[in-house]
Amino acid sequence: MKPLIIANWKCNPKTIKEAKRIFSKTSRNVVVCPPFSFIPLLKGLSLGAQNCFYEESGPYTGEVSPSMLKSLGCKYVIVGHSERRRHFKENNDIINKKVRLVLKNKMTPVLCVGETLKEKKRRKSVLRKQLESGLKGVDSKKIIIAYEPVWAIGTSNPCSPEEALKVRLFISSLFSSKVLYGGSVNSSNAKDYLDFDGLLVGGASLKPEEITKIANI
Ligand code: PGA
Repeated sequence: MKPLIIANWKCNPKTIKEAKRIFSKTSRNVVVCPPFSFIPLLKGLSLGAQNCFYEESGPYTGEVSPSMLKSLGCKYVIVGHSERRRHFKENNDIINKKVRLVLKNKMTPVLCVGETLKEKKRRKSVLRKQLESGLKGVDSKKIIIAYEPVWAIGTSNPCSPEEALKVRLFISSLFSSKVLYGGSVNSSNAKDYLDFDGLLVGGASLKPEEITKIANI
């Protein structure tokens, strides 16, 4: 199976013009997760979202629901990214509600889990908690797990492939989902993570040549 490559653009780029430029030069084999506002304006590649709300509609100013994303053609929704957990105080219960609603809308949740540097010594218990709570009442075969050690995100300091493989095996001993690796992936190190089912790529995905090389590993 070809690895699944998901591009997480985060809060970038600043304009639709730049978004269209990056998008048009990105490999067809990449699932692109742009900011919400750009999603309806980008056509031709598989699309995902970086987040969603946990209700379908109603008086929730500023939120975007899974059914809205579905109606725009999204196939995947990233849920529980560490930046959402940290800056927006998302906890495992909120994340579980999002996972369930994404599935109900027939899209695939990409549930992000990972330990901070401080939590590294008790990594297994942190991951187990994030996974068990995030997947409560969910058929794990229908979702994708992204292992993203928080200390490896945006740092040029990826988790070593040996260490990442150990974590992958641990996750697979608990749940039967596909597992991606994410955290400072670039075109030079992407091939080191072929034990995973694919990659979640942040910074490097904004450079079309980089993400296209990653998609061709
Ligand atoms: P990075 O981000 O590739 O820039 O480290 C990955 C992510 O946050 O999904």
